[in-house]
Amino acid sequence: MKRLLVVYYSHSGDVARAAKSFVRCLNIPEVELSFECIKPKADYPYPWNLYKFFDVFPECINGEPPEISPPKFDEDDKFDLVILAYQVWFLAPSLPIQGFLKSQYAKVLEDTKVITLVVCRNMWHSASETMKRMISEVGGIHIDNVVLTHQGTPLATFITTPRLLLTGKKDRLWGVLPPGGVRDREIDALSRFGRQIANNLSALNDPFNQPLLRGLNAVEVNPRYVIPELIGRVLYRPWAKIARFFGKQGSWSRLPIICIFAVQLVFAIPIVLLISTVFQVLFSPLIDKKISHYIELLKSPSGLVRS
Ligand SMILES: Cc1cc2nc3c(=O)[nH]c(=O)nc-3n(C[C@H](O)[C@H](O)[C@H](O)COP(=O)(O)O)c2cc1C
Repeated sequence: MKRLLVVYYSHSGDVARAAKSFVRCLNIPEVELSFECIKPKADYPYPWNLYKFFDVFPECINGEPPEISPPKFDEDDKFDLVILAYQVWFLAPSLPIQGFLKSQYAKVLEDTKVITLVVCRNMWHSASETMKRMISEVGGIHIDNVVLTHQGTPLATFITTPRLLLTGKKDRLWGVLPPGGVRDREIDALSRFGRQIANNLSALNDPFNQPLLRGLNAVEVNPRYVIPELIGRVLYRPWAKIARFFGKQGSWSRLPIICIFAVQLVFAIPIVLLISTVFQVLFSPLIDKKISHYIELLKSPSGLVRS
């Protein structure tokens, strides 16, 4: 009997549906499957109000998560595999998931194989690297990484994702734009990963901790997003520090700085996209190798070799 734990947090339900689809084929007698939904002691509103949405930004970047309620599992429990399903908030793992990884309950990951499943709009690179670091800090063994992004072009999701987050509406806006969130078909297709694990349960004993999900198209990296994300991450840091200097989450003293950040972000996004495109064209011979190397890092551990 193999013991599997699925740890997740979900707001619109996309991450929860993704996690459940992922493990659908693992509902078999040889596997004992447990689910744990992370619950912050003070949860976040859904749909979001605009101010609250931007007010979580400094803590996401500074790594100051909320306390979470005690989970159902015992932190000293031993599992053969933990699947950690999360979403990205401001280029970082969401605060509830950071809360779990910084809590005493993350001990359950120690010396245990971990597969991450990230669901987000389309900017997941920094969050994924942060997750790898946080998992290794608590002694987890990260063996696979699966990425699922919202349907539609980046321009379309620039409208459909905030609309989903701020109103809860998923339908096709004006009958033209795609529905918000993740395509049902892609959520269903995640079951291929659980099937591969179910067909290869003995691999959970592998002492070399090889990835289990290679060759299944677990991660796709669009090279065009690499530089904008790196620039975004660099620009976010000072804003997060300054905002935090003015007060804690929810405090009135930081309202003006959060509003200034939100307004400048609307202008900064197209400027960053333009600068990074020009930069990439002008300096392509100098940076191509570095970018390819970074892409390999982002694809790891699942995407390095096609089997
Ligand atoms: C506060 C906040 C910040 C977000 N920041 C990002 C981001 O930086 N990159 C991204 O791709 N998606 C971002 N998203 C979108 C979520 O990752 C995405 O909507 C995800 O599907 C949420 O899953 P859930 O509704 O199941 O929690 C953000 C969402 C929220 C609420």
